[in-house]
Amino acid sequence: MPQWLDNAVFYEIYPQSFLDTNADGIGDIQGIIKKLSYIKELGCNAIWINPCFKSPFLDAGYDVSDYYSCAPRYGSNEDLKELFDKAHSMDMHVILDLVPGHTSVEHEWFKKSCQAEVNEYTDRYVWTDSIWEHPEGMSCLSGISSRDGCCGVNFFSHQPALNYGFYNITRPWQQPTDAEGPKATLEEMMNVMRFWLGLGCDGFRVDMAGSLVKNDPESKGTIALWQKVRAFLDAEYPNAAIISEWGEPDKSLLGGFHMDFVLHFGPSKYWELFRGENPYFSSRGTGDISGFVKRYLECCERTNNRGLICIPSGNHDMDRISRNLSADELKIAFAFILSMPGAPFIYYGDEIGMRNVDGLVSVEGGYGRVCARTPMQWDTSVNCGFSSAPASSLYLSQDDSADRPTVSEQQSDETSLYNEVKKLIRVRNSTQGLQSNSSIRFIYAEQNSYPLSYIRGEDILVVINPSDKPCEFECDVVPDEAIYEIGSGIKYSDGVVSCSARSCGFYKIKK
Ligand code: NOJ
Repeated sequence: MPQWLDNAVFYEIYPQSFLDTNADGIGDIQGIIKKLSYIKELGCNAIWINPCFKSPFLDAGYDVSDYYSCAPRYGSNEDLKELFDKAHSMDMHVILDLVPGHTSVEHEWFKKSCQAEVNEYTDRYVWTDSIWEHPEGMSCLSGISSRDGCCGVNFFSHQPALNYGFYNITRPWQQPTDAEGPKATLEEMMNVMRFWLGLGCDGFRVDMAGSLVKNDPESKGTIALWQKVRAFLDAEYPNAAIISEWGEPDKSLLGGFHMDFVLHFGPSKYWELFRGENPYFSSRGTGDISGFVKRYLECCERTNNRGLICIPSGNHDMDRISRNLSADELKIAFAFILSMPGAPFIYYGDEIGMRNVDGLVSVEGGYGRVCARTPMQWDTSVNCGFSSAPASSLYLSQDDSADRPTVSEQQSDETSLYNEVKKLIRVRNSTQGLQSNSSIRFIYAEQNSYPLSYIRGEDILVVINPSDKPCEFECDVVPDEAIYEIGSGIKYSDGVVSCSARSCGFYKIKK
């Protein structure tokens, strides 16, 4: 395990919308470099940047056309190297977004793979051997070239699936994972990793990591593939971290990922924490956290209690966390995110409660997701300090409400969300029991009930009551000194912890 990951607190940057330094209306790498000290001051010591490689940007960069080049609109490979170097000099780490499952249709590999004549790239993608046969269970591209076959796609129809082979082979055109084509695809993806790690990046967030080997119902082929990648990293780049967008840590950690994400879809019940009709962290107090905790514990059990499941405040694929929660509710939600195991991920702007911007027309394949991809609100100057381009040429329009949150205003307000998040990160960073690898034992997480309570490591009791009603629970440990509190509404007496409305605290446990 790369040691730096033990106490990493990540900040996710959607590069389009962070800071534009060349007035083209789109953020860039120099903008990220300029704001490293902001991120560091907030307390985050690691950064995940969404894909920043050459791309036609039909899916915001998740449609790569050249894995080895920074997209010119963001800068150059030298800018990225400068970013890695500066980050390291500040004791920070940078991970890039690796998209190994598919490319853009504009990638040279795909263009060559489309040719009827057999060539080096014929088997780089998942192709059937007849234009009339669609790959079962996948959408596909067909009728677009002289090649007689259909090409499976992984996500949008312009994202052809790279060929890592099939686990169960049921058709003659399906290749085993150890066939030459699939082996060459994997080798090339490892070369891509080598290239960026060689330049100084510290690892990767891996897009759709569980999707690589096809017809692989128990993911055995995909797990074996990632084990090879991990062996290569351990041998060549032991400090590189890999974090998967997979959502099944029993599989991803077995495959060698250092951490996995709690996903906002599938069985995790993440959605019910902060979003939807009845978020647990709303002060209405009508939410239910038991489903989330049940699934979380299953994941912990299946990974020998390693529990390295990252909980994000949000990301570029979902509504902003502020959609259904007020600033006060957000403070309590962050107390949860920043006291759980696994590395926390803060989505840019969530630390100030940036809002969803509704009603925007889709840009770069974002569709409904663009509401959470609008440019960062740094200050009260033109375009909130994001860019000096005319407002009409910004990547996306900004929140135009009079009371939109900005970094500068929140920095000078002691009671702001920004300052609370900063304080929480400081507490996490200075408390061993709150670190990623320390254990968790839930002591109160009942169905349709409040509060939520758990013990972290040997000696930290966390009690969180987001609800506007008081509540209590029987507690088998005795809280002592408070290391963090919102309000001072948590009391202990005779084996019972009672919480006033909207209270939260982290306590040393009495020995
Ligand atoms: C997951 C990414 O987070 C999302 O933004 C993208 O559209 C799909 N994968 C396809 O790569």
